[in-house]
Amino acid sequence: MALGPTPTALAEAVATRDAAGGAVPAHVAIIMDGNGRWAVRRGLPRVAGHRAGVEAVRRTVRAATSAGVSWLTIYAFSSENWRRPLAEVLDLTGLLRHFLRAEIKELHSQGVRVRFIGDRSRFDPDIQTEMATSEARTAGNTRLNLIIALSYGGRAEIVAAARAAAEAALAGTLDPAEMTEESFARLLSTDGIPDPDLIIRTSGEQRLSNFLLWQSAYAELVFTDVLWPDFGARELADAIDCYTRRERRFGARPG
Ligand code: FPP
Repeated sequence: MALGPTPTALAEAVATRDAAGGAVPAHVAIIMDGNGRWAVRRGLPRVAGHRAGVEAVRRTVRAATSAGVSWLTIYAFSSENWRRPLAEVLDLTGLLRHFLRAEIKELHSQGVRVRFIGDRSRFDPDIQTEMATSEARTAGNTRLNLIIALSYGGRAEIVAAARAAAEAALAGTLDPAEMTEESFARLLSTDGIPDPDLIIRTSGEQRLSNFLLWQSAYAELVFTDVLWPDFGARELADAIDCYTRRERRFGARPG
C-alpha cells in the first residue's frame, strides 16, 4: 500500500490541541464528496476520481489512527447513488469489491475493526460475503473502528427502526409508553457506536445528504472546499483543529 509521509501538520495540530487541553473527537464521520469534479478538472473519467478517492480513504484511516480518533465513519455509497448511470454504479461496486479483497488485510494488520451500515442486501452476493468476512476477521481489533456506510440512507434507517418498534409493539414485546431516545437508538444500525462528534464534508457542499440523520443531532459540522481525492492528514488535522477551537469557545461561554 502506497502511503505518503505523515505530514507534520497533523502532529503540530495534535500537539497544539493537547497543549490547549482540547479533546480529540472520539468519532469523526466524513461525507466524501468531489471525486467526479476532481477527475473532470483533470480531463479524466469519473472513475479515476473514485480510484483517487480510495487512496484518500487509506490516507485518512492512517491519519485518524495517528490523531487518536477511535471511530471513523465514511459515507462510501448512499442509497441515492444507485440512481447514477449504470456504468458508474458498476465502477463504484467494482472498486468496493477490490477494496474488500485487497485492503482489508492491510486494515487488519493496522488493528482496524471494520463494520458496515446500510442495506447490504442490494449488493451482489460475493460483495455481501466479503463484507461479512471482513467484519468477522477484524472483529477483535481495537485501534480504530472504521464504519463504512454503503447503500446507506438516514431516513430509511429511521423508518426501519420505527417499523421494528411497531412490530415489537404489535407482538406485545414492547410497550410504546416505555420507548426512549436511548431504546430507539438501539434499533438503529449504529447500535453500539457512539454518535459522531465531528462530521466533515468535502468539496464545498454544505448538506448532510441523508447521512446519520439521527446520530448527527449534536455533531459539530465542518465543511471544506477540498475535493475528497485531495483529502489527507493535513485536512483532517485542520478539521480537528476547527472542532477543538469550537469546543474551547463552548467551554469558555459564561452561564
Ligand atoms: C462523491 O463524489 C463520492 C462518492 C459517490 C463515492 C465515494 C467513494 C469513494 C471515496 C471510493 C470508494 C470507497 C470505498 C471504501 C470502496 P461524487 O462522484 O459525487 O463527486 P462530484 O460531486 O464531484 O460529482
